[in-house]
Amino acid sequence: AIIQRKDYRVPEWLVPTIDLDFALKLDATRVKSTLRVERNPHGEQGTTLRLNGDGITADSVTVDGQSTNSWRMDGSDLVIELDGDKHEIVIETTLDPAANSQLSGLYASNGMLCTQCEAEGFRRITFFPDRPDVLSRYAVRLAGDKAKFPVLLANGNEVARGADPERDGPGTHWAEWHDPWPKPSYLFALVAGELVANRSSFVTLSGRKVRLAIYVRPGDEARTGHAMESLKAAMKWDEDVYGREYDLDDFNIVAVSDFNAGAMENKGLNIFNTRYILADPDTATDGDYDAIEGVVAHEYFHNWSGNRVTCRDWFQLSLKEGFTVLRDQQFSAAMGSAPVKRIEDVRVLRGVQFPEDSGPLAHPIRPDSYQEISNFYTATVYNKGAEVIRMMTVMAGLDRFRRGTDLYFERHDGEAATCEDFVKAIEDGAGLDLKQFRRWYEQAGTPRVEVEMRHDATSGEVRLILRQTVPATPGQPDKAPMPIPLRTALFDRMSGRHGGEQTLILDDATREFSFTGFAEPPVLSINRGFSAPVAIATPTPAEDLLFLARHDDDPFARYEAMQQLVVQHLVGVVNGSVTGAALDQGRAAIGEAFEAILDDRALDDLMRGEFVILPGETYLAEQLLVNEPAAIHAAREELKAWLGINLGAQFRALHDRCSAVPYSLSPEARGSRKLKTQALVYLAPADPAEAIRRAKAQFDGADNMTDRQGALMVLCGLSGPEREEALAAFHDRYAGNALVIDKWFSLQAGSLNPKALEHTKALADHPDFNLANPNRVRSLYMAFAANPQAFHDASGEGYRMIADLIETLDPLNSSTAARFVTPLGRWKRMEPGRSALMKAELERLAAVPTLSRDTREQVSRSLD
Ligand code: ARG
Ligand code: ZN
Repeated sequence: AIIQRKDYRVPEWLVPTIDLDFALKLDATRVKSTLRVERNPHGEQGTTLRLNGDGITADSVTVDGQSTNSWRMDGSDLVIELDGDKHEIVIETTLDPAANSQLSGLYASNGMLCTQCEAEGFRRITFFPDRPDVLSRYAVRLAGDKAKFPVLLANGNEVARGADPERDGPGTHWAEWHDPWPKPSYLFALVAGELVANRSSFVTLSGRKVRLAIYVRPGDEARTGHAMESLKAAMKWDEDVYGREYDLDDFNIVAVSDFNAGAMENKGLNIFNTRYILADPDTATDGDYDAIEGVVAHEYFHNWSGNRVTCRDWFQLSLKEGFTVLRDQQFSAAMGSAPVKRIEDVRVLRGVQFPEDSGPLAHPIRPDSYQEISNFYTATVYNKGAEVIRMMTVMAGLDRFRRGTDLYFERHDGEAATCEDFVKAIEDGAGLDLKQFRRWYEQAGTPRVEVEMRHDATSGEVRLILRQTVPATPGQPDKAPMPIPLRTALFDRMSGRHGGEQTLILDDATREFSFTGFAEPPVLSINRGFSAPVAIATPTPAEDLLFLARHDDDPFARYEAMQQLVVQHLVGVVNGSVTGAALDQGRAAIGEAFEAILDDRALDDLMRGEFVILPGETYLAEQLLVNEPAAIHAAREELKAWLGINLGAQFRALHDRCSAVPYSLSPEARGSRKLKTQALVYLAPADPAEAIRRAKAQFDGADNMTDRQGALMVLCGLSGPEREEALAAFHDRYAGNALVIDKWFSLQAGSLNPKALEHTKALADHPDFNLANPNRVRSLYMAFAANPQAFHDASGEGYRMIADLIETLDPLNSSTAARFVTPLGRWKRMEPGRSALMKAELERLAAVPTLSRDTREQVSRSLD
């Protein structure tokens, strides 16, 4: 069934309170749920109460204390006929958490029990109006074996605990948790298991002392320090920057190793994938440290943007996710290097979201319809959603934007709100007119902006003509122009300076802006800071890009000029327009720009590290009408080798300089680690023997995971005994550490090694491979699918491998399986040979009769 946004109806029944009583057992948990239901005066006045279920059956149902037969199953839902306005319903269900391989609802992981209810997992625990606009107060009693489940956690406050063997059985204990804040069912959580806590505390703005705890499996507690520091920093930052204070006496986090997503913001009881909690220098890279800081903050920030103000329905998902991603990006920018953070965020947007926006799964940040909501936890809803709100900050400025968010939180506290409510609050609070801006919520597709500059030497006038087109996307053939805020500066070629930045709003198909006082044609710096999530479609003259790469005072724009220089060159090489002398010239220009970056003493190494990362193959493919993966890969690798040869001395010196910096988490030391491995990346194709020597030394001498992983990545891409030795040593050293063994799988599947396809196939039979663990599945197959040279092997074997995976994984864990359809979905813009092979795999999947709703939706959208 297709669910449409326009069909929203307010709930007929409300559930002001619910009591949940759990008798916990790994393979047979009994749940008794007591719902106090009330007719919603604003809803339709029907006589049936519909309670959603999924894969559960009711052992018994009572209404107002009477066992009743006036209920029936309608599909998986439980329907009760009721007259009157107020009733108490008691329903008992029995679950088998150990058999729950979907990891949605209540499931077992390593002998512990935990939940994941967003979006529709609560209905796998008990029958309930499982929709985010039904808010209830929860009282939860957990009872279970004291030895197996010494720790019993749920949302809110622990109000009592004890042991009642008569009631709950010998060897048991119980705990009762009350959450004073009404919440939708998707924020419910419980955890039971043998866990140890890293405890700390935080005093809020108004003086409330909050107990903090991060629960992990015994032995992991030493790796929770960074997550704890990140949490405290996030709590402080949200007070300082958004005026948001925490609202319970306890904030608990639990890390679990079997988890479909990154983490979940359950009220007062966040549940995390271990990969976003556990870190120490020996096992986590600098990137892992950053990801932990960002995700811990993200989930914490949801307490306001998501929990206190939640979503009316799942079409509004970006209301909480887009806004919370923006908030976590702003936080990380404040904690580290803001320009580097911006570059990384834009890299993800253009590498993942832009392809989504131009492919068969394109959808607006507020979708109009879905079959399975799990399929809409996308880069569009999250990352483009954040960019859309970021544009509001560009147009309003941060102070006025804050007035908007204050009004939003005040107006909608305790409510289930819509994206429209958010936009209205920003309009009213920040004083913006967002009438036309609302189109950003309605229309999918990445706008393309064309730029034309006309200079009149006699009058000194510059006219900038900007045009936008929003491409057609599935279900949206015609688009209306959207307001695009473009931070812009015009540089004087002689002085290398500009006379001030302006934000130009391109709010029509075409607009003209005029500037005076330019004797010479200026150099245009546009979309500075990536102020709008658009593609600038007009190529810029190479000399202007070189100018900006040297002189632009906006760090993002400077980076972008450098990227664009490389993109334009590589696109030309692939489409055959850059050959012969032009090829030499193009490389020479890039070489010169690289040299300037390597020599620029004013740049810090963290930033320098961004400049020397070449644009990714997926992003390059986006610039072409027809994707030619082999040609793109070859052109990019050739350029890399050319740079490695021609700047060999500089890269060697860089590797030496950076190798001398001792380990710490300072920006300087992190920068040197980033550059150290980048130097090897360029030396590898230029002088493999030397690269192996240096990588081996880096690997053997490493006192941290960043260096070790970087060196192993380079060794993995080359052939020789050093590769096998290093892989074996790494595996030995970290046997039993799941997160590090994940890296071991990813490095091989994601490798530049020409045999990566073969290696990946073999690794699927490795004893450490495990289809039941999403982290492990992703570590092998997502890394593979993101490795163009291996995935797009001309034989089509890569496609078959991913389709086989989808087919095998789908019955076990459909939401994880469905995520693998995306890489196969981009067949339309592929060269004919590969296109046919990809499409054939999708068709093969479409013919599988037992496909889950998740996977079926993605496959059929991809074939449409
Ligand atoms: N709300 C969670 C977060 O962004 C993610 C939940 C993922 N759920 C899902 N069905 N994919 O922090
Ligand atoms: Zn989120």
